[in-house]
Amino acid sequence: MLICAVFPAWRAVGLAVLLATSSLALADALPSPEQIKHGEYLARAADCIACHSVPHSNKPFAGGYGIASPLGTIYSSNITPSVNGGIGDYTLADFDNALRKGIRKDGAHLYPAMPYTSYAKMTSDDVAALYAYLMHGVAPVDGAARKTRLPFPFNIRLSMAMWNGLFLDPKPLETDSAKSAEWNRGRYLVDALEHCSACHTPRNVFMAEKQGAAFAGGQLGAWYAPNITSDAASGIGGWSDAELMQYLKSGHVPRKAAAAGPMAEAVSNSLSYLTDTDLQAIATYLKTINPVRDGNDIKPAFAWGSPANDDATLRGTSGVTQSSKPTSAAELFSANCASCHQTTGSGTSDGAYPSLSNNTTLGHANASNLIAAILYGVDRPLPDGRHAFMPGFGPNSLVNPLSDTDIAALANYTLRQFGNAAVQVTAGDVTTARKGGEPPLLAKVPKILPIVLVVIALLLVLAIWRGMRRRRLRVIRATPAPHAS
Ligand code: HEC
Ligand code: HEC
Ligand code: HEC
Repeated sequence: MLICAVFPAWRAVGLAVLLATSSLALADALPSPEQIKHGEYLARAADCIACHSVPHSNKPFAGGYGIASPLGTIYSSNITPSVNGGIGDYTLADFDNALRKGIRKDGAHLYPAMPYTSYAKMTSDDVAALYAYLMHGVAPVDGAARKTRLPFPFNIRLSMAMWNGLFLDPKPLETDSAKSAEWNRGRYLVDALEHCSACHTPRNVFMAEKQGAAFAGGQLGAWYAPNITSDAASGIGGWSDAELMQYLKSGHVPRKAAAAGPMAEAVSNSLSYLTDTDLQAIATYLKTINPVRDGNDIKPAFAWGSPANDDATLRGTSGVTQSSKPTSAAELFSANCASCHQTTGSGTSDGAYPSLSNNTTLGHANASNLIAAILYGVDRPLPDGRHAFMPGFGPNSLVNPLSDTDIAALANYTLRQFGNAAVQVTAGDVTTARKGGEPPLLAKVPKILPIVLVVIALLLVLAIWRGMRRRRLRVIRATPAPHAS
């Protein structure tokens, strides 16, 4: 700098060289508008924005969104192109490592709350397009996101290396040439981008997706992501392609299902932005997923119940009184639910308020979504600009907080009247849902640390053994077969 000031000629030359090289570098690095646009679509399809933005903060991708895990809250990172707190200093290779291997630029392992196990299946071209979009299509926001602090031993990020050795399949998806291009696209969308399995596949004790039960239904705290395998009774085998597409696009199929909770977020933030061609591809693929049947399911969840025609046919409503404090389940329903869903449970004909009969939420053997909907309500924008709103009746209720006993009574009443009467809800189930659902075994780890250390040691042995076996298989494959003699 000093030399430049003293020798203006040098400075001019230096500036010229600097400009030439930097504009060269810029021309080299600047992606095409098409690639940025493609990256934007992929960021929608992979739902990066939902986890990487605090709702209503007006700071897209700035991170800090807390993902409640049974082990503690995990905060997402700032992935705007800011060098001060964001990923501005990430090269494409660094970005690829985070996305497909779960490894941060500083070498630390990410927690699988970031769905890198799904993104590992992404193509390199798509990773590059996402990088182009985040670097050139997103406004930088300075400041690192809030730090995640999990209790010991989960604060040791290196333990994730072991977990990855066991549960991360690092191979991108390969085209299955025996299947149509549409099917392959659908599989790519479902398995790599939309990470549907992260919610819909049950997890093992290590909180990894159970391999033998892909899409057979997973518990997400108070909510339940149902079985979406092709099985006709337990899964979506009985849905038409058009119905699946409509559900994914709008979260609402009259006389079948309405999305609330985490699925409503997936629809609003991601699925509603997909092209019809991509939605059709997803439907095509879903219909071919290995069916998984729960032996207790005798008919599809949407096939339960028929709307009662009038109050007189409602079992148990004969004694409905307009007392100021309703006590019986029928009274509770009449006071809190009937204004929207109607006493007959058939909803409104314009579809604004869904029918409760022929509604999967009241047909599934797992009643979590019914309890959660009553506790937390529904609040989601609809693609046509309207809003689906149902008040919650839980702790933050603005209308009428109900007790666990009342909510259980209401749930059982709606199940009996409009759905699968064999399903029973207890006040204890509601208490658990209020606490965010049944914690998995792993969450109890700090209390049972000695056992965990033994398990970790066993895992290590298993990981090493699998590594050795893989290497051996590779050696065997690489060895030319001996000539038949
Ligand atoms: C389900 C929630 C979720 C989704 C969806 C998600 N992420 Fe993340 N991501 C996280 C969380 C949580 C972390 C931080 C994890 C940790 O601290 O271990 C993270 C971390 C990252 C990091 C590491 C940055 C750093 O230096 O800390 C990058 C890069 C990243 N995500 C990019 C993406 C992109 C790109 C997408 C979309 C393709 C995406 N994420 C989708 C939750 C998510
Ligand atoms: C963030 C978690 C999450 C993700 C990601 C997710 N789902 Fe869901 N899904 C749910 C939950 C929870 C429900 C239950 C919603 C309700 O009843 O209100 C659900 C419901 C559904 C239903 C209706 C099933 C029924 O019986 O009512 C279908 C179909 C579905 N999801 C398909 C998908 C597909 C396909 C993907 C990926 C493209 C996907 N979901 C991604 C959580 C998720
Ligand atoms: C102010 C109107 C309103 C009231 C009052 C109301 N609901 Fe709803 N309900 C809705 C709307 C809107 C939806 C969501 C429709 C959508 O997502 O398309 C919904 C959805 C549901 C669902 C499906 C949730 C899911 O997981 O898919 C159930 C079950 C339900 N309501 C039951 C009840 C019960 C029981 C009560 C009384 C405790 C009640 N509702 C009160 C408007 C209401």
